[in-house]
Amino acid sequence: MRDGQQRKIEYARISLTDRCNLNCSYCRPHNLNRAYARELSEIEILRAAKALVTAGIRKLRLTGGEPLLYKGIQSLIFRLKEIDGIEEIGITTNGILLEPLAASLAKAGLTHINISLDAMHPETYSCITGSDDGLDRVLKGLAASLDSGISNIRLNCVPLKGINENEVAELAQLARDNDISVRYIRLMPIGSIIASDLKGIGMDEIKKMLSDIFGYMERVPSGDELSGPAEYYRLQGFRGKIGFIDSLDHSFCSSCNRIRLTSDGILKPCLSYSDGIDIKELLARDDSGDELVKSINEAIWMKPASHCFMDKIHEKRETRNMFQIGG
Ligand code: GTP
Ligand code: 5AD
Repeated sequence: MRDGQQRKIEYARISLTDRCNLNCSYCRPHNLNRAYARELSEIEILRAAKALVTAGIRKLRLTGGEPLLYKGIQSLIFRLKEIDGIEEIGITTNGILLEPLAASLAKAGLTHINISLDAMHPETYSCITGSDDGLDRVLKGLAASLDSGISNIRLNCVPLKGINENEVAELAQLARDNDISVRYIRLMPIGSIIASDLKGIGMDEIKKMLSDIFGYMERVPSGDELSGPAEYYRLQGFRGKIGFIDSLDHSFCSSCNRIRLTSDGILKPCLSYSDGIDIKELLARDDSGDELVKSINEAIWMKPASHCFMDKIHEKRETRNMFQIGG
């Protein structure tokens, strides 16, 4: 369906859990002390997905927290893939649990996998994520994903001033040697990041760093009709692509094609606003789904024209952290 700005909404991000096995500084504060929110059951997620398809959704991305912590993830993907009208199912994972799971996820029907990887050196990785052995596990997870035959593999790196900026080029080399995309994401001021002293790096600066080392970068299409906000480039001698996601300029709001469902059952029309429609009760009820479709259409219709990340004071600005929303 089209939203109030006539944008076609075809992509839903479903957060399976707000649990995570990492504490990335830009997503989930290290000193966190709170109970986990309720997770939706497989039946509830399938109900949501069927209603989303009726409302015009063709692509699902499972997020978190860490979605691979969701019990029965393979069965969930298999059953989501069986729903008529779902063309793509992706997952955004930190990759820690990926090595033993990649082959079965591919078999279940996963079509796209995005892996968060912010560093190429264990000390830097540990400084960002709090995990000492994580880097090795993620690289093994990446290798297993390549072996699994999943054809759309993307790495996400959030460059942070003074932390991982010297590893940006080394990360890009993974796209030189493999047919994957390495993407850089501008740090988004959301939740506790707003008051933290973490500093992101602008995408123009990253592009300059990379072109100084690797030479001319040619802008290329994403090659994916239902893709998200990244813009892609090809570098000479690279098998894969390099992507940039600059969420702070408003460049992709006008073509934004997605809504979100949080792990506690809130439909969110835009990442940056706290507004949402609570569909927990509807999901728990075993009915025809008509009311769910009505709520989804309402959420799509109320999607704002653009994000409010740059408004320093906005009474509706999202105060939850990224792991509670689903990235
Ligand atoms: P694909 O195009 O399928 O690869 O998905 P994606 O890039 O949308 O997914 P991913 O989960 O890898 O997210 C990459 C970055 O884009 C993350 O930092 C997300 O928070 C950000 N992102 C995703 N959707 C939105 C959105 O609607 N608005 C903004 N501002 N950022 C978004
Ligand atoms: N700013 C930008 N990207 C973020 N992510 C998580 N938190 C932030 C933030 N504050 C990214 C992660 C993950 C994706 C879903 O969102 O790197 O790859």
